[in-house]
Amino acid sequence: MYNPYSLKDKTILVTGASSGIGRATAIECSKLGATLVLTGRNEIALQETKELLSNSSTQDHSILAADLRIEEACENLVGQLPMLDGFVCNAGIGKMLPLQFYSLDVLNEVFQMNCFVPMLLLRLLVKKRKLRNPSSVVFTASISGYNNVAPANGVYGTSKSALSTYMKYAALELAGKGIRCNAVHPGRIKTPLISNHLLTEEDVAKDVEQYPMKRYGEPSEVAHAIIYLLSDASAWVTGSNLVIDGGRSLK
Ligand SMILES: NC(=O)c1ccc[n+]([C@@H]2O[C@H](COP(=O)([O-])OP(=O)(O)OC[C@H]3O[C@@H](n4cnc5c(N)ncnc54)[C@H](OP(=O)(O)O)[C@@H]3O)[C@@H](O)[C@H]2O)c1
Repeated sequence: MYNPYSLKDKTILVTGASSGIGRATAIECSKLGATLVLTGRNEIALQETKELLSNSSTQDHSILAADLRIEEACENLVGQLPMLDGFVCNAGIGKMLPLQFYSLDVLNEVFQMNCFVPMLLLRLLVKKRKLRNPSSVVFTASISGYNNVAPANGVYGTSKSALSTYMKYAALELAGKGIRCNAVHPGRIKTPLISNHLLTEEDVAKDVEQYPMKRYGEPSEVAHAIIYLLSDASAWVTGSNLVIDGGRSLK
């Protein structure tokens, strides 16, 4: 059956596959025929994700656990990877902190995970020639680093801005190798990342009101945008930013 979004015969690495958006992306990609390589630190949670994947005789899913902040762990991970048609660079951390409380340690922590890790991981994938020609890289950035500014979200938002700027450089430098790079920018999505207990129920109700569609997003709604960017339906799309936020950034 004709389906330009099919991921059949594609092998896709998903970081942050143990939870939230990464888990949903792996599940949805498997339904479209992809073989998944799942990574994260929590092996039990990765195993749970694996059990939720669709399986056919052509799909051979695997788990390679790694703490991506450790360069040696990244090298081991990349060394064990098969050739990839897709890389969903999704793992990241949140941080809510008013600027008076910044420290170099906090800035390092957030920038390391949200920006430097993606840059170093892509470098390794390119150096070790793990990305096919053609292939597609999708970064999970955020509207906080794109077109939505909220109090106490400056370190996080700035790290995601840096990531989406890097995405454009990567798209330019890798286009000749047939590697496309794009970013998705979700608004608030119902995952463990946003249950940081910093907001009261009342705060959340007020925040939801800021969304023209009057709700937060589901992880699968980001997954479907990522699938577009991984699939051949977006074969001529590179260096672009895709906002998925129920209209939040219209306000
Ligand atoms: N939820 C939202 O509202 C929202 C909005 C915009 C953007 N985002 C972005 O979406 C991405 C996924 O977030 P999520 O909401 O799905 O959050 P989540 O449920 O907390 O998932 C975060 C993932 O990152 C992985 N991770 C964190 N530190 C890691 C490390 N040192 N090494 C390896 N993996 C690590 C975690 O795996 P382990 O714990 O197994 O290591 C987990 O799978 C993040 O980049 C986030 O910034 C989220």
